[in-house]
Amino acid sequence: MAKGPWATRPADRDPSKLPTIAVIGGTGRMGVHLCATWANAGYDVTMCSRKKEKAQGIVDQLKSGEGYIEWKLHAGDNAAASKADMIVLGTMYEQAWSIMEDSSVASNIKGKGKVILDMTNPFMSRPDGYGAGLPKDGPQAGILIHKEKLNDPSTQWVGAYKHILWTLILPEGPKNPGRPDVEVFGEPKAVDMVVELIYRHGWRPIVRGGLDVAPKYEGGKVSFRKIGTNLKNEIFSGEKLSVGW
Ligand SMILES: NC(=O)c1ccc[n+]([C@@H]2O[C@H](COP(=O)([O-])OP(=O)(O)OC[C@H]3O[C@@H](n4cnc5c(N)ncnc54)[C@H](OP(=O)(O)O)[C@@H]3O)[C@@H](O)[C@H]2O)c1
Repeated sequence: MAKGPWATRPADRDPSKLPTIAVIGGTGRMGVHLCATWANAGYDVTMCSRKKEKAQGIVDQLKSGEGYIEWKLHAGDNAAASKADMIVLGTMYEQAWSIMEDSSVASNIKGKGKVILDMTNPFMSRPDGYGAGLPKDGPQAGILIHKEKLNDPSTQWVGAYKHILWTLILPEGPKNPGRPDVEVFGEPKAVDMVVELIYRHGWRPIVRGGLDVAPKYEGGKVSFRKIGTNLKNEIFSGEKLSVGW
């Protein structure tokens, strides 16, 4: 492994020993691309939806390609997510917590030592009105708000993939192989799981710190300072963050 800011690559291991993954909002742009990518990397993945039939249609289509029949990719409703080792919040920030509550995922995972990968971007504004930001008088990161709402010390939280445009995520690796770096932050066990995941699908993880750094690294907040820091890290540390291209 080259010297640099990247996390240590874990030893390769038998795919049957890998954690299982379920993606809430798995039928969305990020969800479909990541479900395919993670299944291609050997993970057992469940694409979850408010309507299982919607996810089933996409899974059937994905698995109909030659070579993809072996993927351990399944469809489920959002409630099915509680069975996975790692639950991914792949829907809009404004919908994620109500889905966790309404589908009983929040109540069913308490005390079970799960990992939650939060990809939501409360500050990435969208034409449909989502991503409008957070109230100024609370934590300035969606992941911190979600953690507070779940209030379960056994669950570990990690943020990642927040700055990566969905079109750049392909099963065989980054669409732009010259920009494979992914920022990760969060709690230790969860970060380790995601570091392994990122390496297994051909990208490079850079761990920025614990959950305390979340307000700095949650996607969508663009500033001259951030652009300057990214440029500096690229010039002096060789970082190649995927930032929209
Ligand atoms: N797009 C990107 O490039 C990108 C990059 C990094 C991070 N993110 C973040 O990742 C998350 C997902 O983004 P996305 O672009 O993949 O979203 P998207 O394509 O709009 O998909 C969101 C999914 O959420 C589900 N959903 C749940 N409640 C919904 C509601 N009330 N209305 C509509 N859909 C609802 C839908 O699945 P069902 O209908 O199957 O339930 C839908 O497929 C967001 O938090 C975003 O900020 C996005």
